Amino acid sequence: MTRAGTIALGAVTLLALILLALMPSAHAQDAARLAAGEAAWNKAGCLQCHGSAGEGGSGGEFPAGPSLRTTQLNRVMLVDTIGCGRPGTQMPGWLDGAYTEISCYGLPKGPPPAGLDLTPVLSGDEVAALVDYMMAKMIGK
Ligand code: HEC
Repeated sequence: MTRAGTIALGAVTLLALILLALMPSAHAQDAARLAAGEAAWNKAGCLQCHGSAGEGGSGGEFPAGPSLRTTQLNRVMLVDTIGCGRPGTQMPGWLDGAYTEISCYGLPKGPPPAGLDLTPVLSGDEVAALVDYMMAKMIGK
């Protein structure tokens, strides 16, 4: 083999080894992201209304939220619905600063609409991790 060929082969091998070394950390990051999403789910107490696995609440002490396993909402709509809540229903908004500091549903910033419970316990990052978690573990499952 030529010298250049040997060097090229060495470079390819090195690259493959670097990629192999990076793979476990990518998995670890995914796992950390899902754990952060699950922590946000627990912190907000979504399960009180939507059931422990998002199967839908049974009512009683808490309002009966619909099944999240069968939701048709896409990622953007999930982020908006969870962060900003659904005015006129018992679905609260969870994002810290929703409406006043962070625009909701494309509206200009301002006071939150009437008929909405705000429980601003989640950051934007937590809402995004929560949606990742729901898409990986709940929706369509
Ligand atoms: C106090 C009860 C309650 C809690 C707590 C609650 N929800 Fe809801 N949620 C509802 C109700 C009721 C609806 C249905 C609103 C409607 O009539 O459109 C709803 C709707 C939704 C929807 C829209 C579903 C669809 O397909 O249209 C999503 C997504 C959702 N909730 C996610 C969550 C998440 C995630 C949490 C926790 C951060 C949470 N909810 C906490 C009551 C609740």
